[in-house]
Amino acid sequence: MSTPTPILDLREKRENAMQGGGPKRIAAQHEKGKLTARERINLLVDPDSFEEFDMFVTHRCTNFDMEKQVYPGDGVVTGSATVNGRLVYVFAQDFTVIGGSLSIAYAEKICKIMDMAIKNGCPVIGLNDSGGARIQEGIDALAGYAEIFWRNVMSSGVIPQISAIMGPCAGGAVYSPAITDFVIMEKHNSYMFVTGPKVVKTVLNEDVSTADLGGAEVHSGKSGVAHFITGSEEETLMLIKKLLSYLPSNNMEDPPYEPPHDPVDRPCVALDTLVPDNPNKPYDMLDIISEITDDNEFLQVMMNFAPNILVGFARMNGFPVGIVANQPKILAGVLDINASVKAARFVRFCDAFNIPLIVLEDVPGFLPGTNQEHNGIIRNGAKMLYAFAEATVPKITVIVRKAYGGAYCVMNSRHMRADLVYAWPSAEIAVMGPKGAVEVIFRKEIQASEDPKQTLLDKESEYAKKFANPYAAAERGYIDDIIEPSRTRFRLIRALEMLANKKDSIPPRKHGNIPL
Ligand code: HXC
Repeated sequence: MSTPTPILDLREKRENAMQGGGPKRIAAQHEKGKLTARERINLLVDPDSFEEFDMFVTHRCTNFDMEKQVYPGDGVVTGSATVNGRLVYVFAQDFTVIGGSLSIAYAEKICKIMDMAIKNGCPVIGLNDSGGARIQEGIDALAGYAEIFWRNVMSSGVIPQISAIMGPCAGGAVYSPAITDFVIMEKHNSYMFVTGPKVVKTVLNEDVSTADLGGAEVHSGKSGVAHFITGSEEETLMLIKKLLSYLPSNNMEDPPYEPPHDPVDRPCVALDTLVPDNPNKPYDMLDIISEITDDNEFLQVMMNFAPNILVGFARMNGFPVGIVANQPKILAGVLDINASVKAARFVRFCDAFNIPLIVLEDVPGFLPGTNQEHNGIIRNGAKMLYAFAEATVPKITVIVRKAYGGAYCVMNSRHMRADLVYAWPSAEIAVMGPKGAVEVIFRKEIQASEDPKQTLLDKESEYAKKFANPYAAAERGYIDDIIEPSRTRFRLIRALEMLANKKDSIPPRKHGNIPL
């Protein structure tokens, strides 16, 4: 029996919709080194798992002869799929259709999957490649964006939201990715800015290229807008899968357990000799992280922004954790504005999604100076303090070396309600380093002495003996134990097991008033 005509019609219509803006524009997309929306989705999701919605939606605009430019699907491909067997909702903007520009109908398609994602408790993944608001639609396009922004905000802290930037993302359109939890930028073809180079030239008479204004290097290294930078679209899509492997599907679930292959009690002997005797000598905190995590893996987030602090995901005995660690190799691991903001946002993400926090601490304090003060180190440093204090997930700190001053307090100290605080024998927990401290408290005595240099040294060593060790804090119970570095992995896994059923809450309120 031959296939009935209505079914043949349907197949033809589907085939037509699959062509997006047509073969010429698809070829142009490929020439730029970019994949099409459908090719991207195919690489991201499990084979045959994509269920597309609204393939036949078209725009309704008749301004400027727009009725002559109608494409089924209207420039965005939307639907649900699985990634490594877990349900996600996804939209991919199709630059081959009117530059991927957003009409109200297109926005409604995105809103539909966002609504479904929140109802079903699943992540939303957005693959962005668009010329922004469809200019011919005027206010309707703006209304469409605002509807998306509102849903981004409502979804925040409820379901993970991941944005990949794979082409242009300009104008107010940038604020949807900006609200999502993670922004990934591909380094050759993606850019984000509120106003492009032409407007910058007109308004400020500044000449700047697209890449220098809002390319992936700028946003991953300087502005902190992008959490990851990748070398290709394929890398971006693989990274999304990796990232999802650490995240629960929503805020009511635990993050996904993966049976581990790495023994819990694997001794980390290299750690016993890793911290130099000289407290002013740097070492690489990444060496500690990779020693203690399952299979030595660490997915670093915001690697190029404020590298004096490290944040990212790992697994401990199969369970995802978020790690926050000072990096003594860069600026001695000092806390500055960018480091504080970076850590605060990461801590709040982990707390929202039930991911326990491990803090590895070696911090000489907050960065002094007019630049930092005038730009608000007080207001911004407070964000990290606030984030640690309000986090109710299991929180464990290991003081590796320095824990000085205000930085001791804010870096998940016992007083910020850390559940467990461990210290290595090399820990120094004090108001400040020995030299600075004795110069303040023994200034007169040093000046009056016959040999000021020697007196300074004597006082320094007296101070170091008293405070530059973990024992004063241990005597007060501010730290729970002093542990051998090689046992850190084992002790942390034990601690996480101990805290697995932790229930904690903060006073009910509409929301706190974090110093933004
Ligand atoms: C309608 C658009 C469009 C748009 C691109 N096109 N952007 N159509 N509205 N916003 C169309 C182009 O006219 C062209 O159609 C096709 O898409 C491909 O675009 P090209 O310019 O040929 O591509 P390319 O050279 O790669 O340049 C890409 C681009 C450029 C840099 C994105 O198209 C551009 O500057 N577009 C305008 C960007 C913009 O100003 N958008 C509004 C931002 S404000 P034809 O048929 O000629 O091939 C905004 C407000 C959001 O978005 C507010 C939210 C609150």
